[in-house]
Amino acid sequence: MAKVILLNGSPRKNSNTLLVLKECAKAIEAEGVETEIISLKDKNIQSCIACGTCTETGNCSLDDGLDEIIDKIREADGFIPAAPVYFGTARGDIMSALQRIGKVSRGGDKFLDWMVGGPITVARRGGQTLTLQEMTMFFPINGMIIPGSSYWNMVTAGPEGTALEDTEGIDTIRLFGTNVAKLIKKIKE
Ligand SMILES: Cc1cc2nc3c(=O)[nH]c(=O)nc-3n(C[C@H](O)[C@H](O)[C@H](O)COP(=O)(O)O)c2cc1C
Repeated sequence: MAKVILLNGSPRKNSNTLLVLKECAKAIEAEGVETEIISLKDKNIQSCIACGTCTETGNCSLDDGLDEIIDKIREADGFIPAAPVYFGTARGDIMSALQRIGKVSRGGDKFLDWMVGGPITVARRGGQTLTLQEMTMFFPINGMIIPGSSYWNMVTAGPEGTALEDTEGIDTIRLFGTNVAKLIKKIKE
């Protein structure tokens, strides 16, 4: 069965980003595609140290739990990272994760090639489009395919647990999830 990994880059317990990813996952599963939401919340994700080990071993040399996530993405057909906006850009650990995931893929078995997905951002007020652009850089350089939606993949929410109040944003994310699943099914036909 096809599967999509959704990666939550928020450290908060009642995270808006998590709420958004749950809606995205529901839309994907409604198309008969399996999902798993993974959180970076209790991890201490480090940045790539450019050691080059991954080109020889196919795994990251840093021992902070990202390798287990990489192995799950390697087995999946879709990948959707989501980040809260911090000072107009993505929270740092999700970018560290993306850079290491991309490095392991590019230097080795290129597991991201033809994988379907795209970024999602959540912010109280500003910085969404720049953050989406920042995160989008990860996809084409790794041979990935980003489907569209009715708007950009952004949801407006400030206080914890309020993300569902942005109904237009949530509808955009649901349609994005549907399109991710539909495209995966087309590719696997
Ligand atoms: C350090 C920090 C910086 C933030 N910077 C921004 C920002 O630049 N723009 C914005 O709209 N919201 C900003 N926020 C608010 C969060 O993006 C917002 O509360 C979001 O809902 C958090 O998602 P989460 O609940 O999934 O963590 C910031 C929050 C923190 C803690």
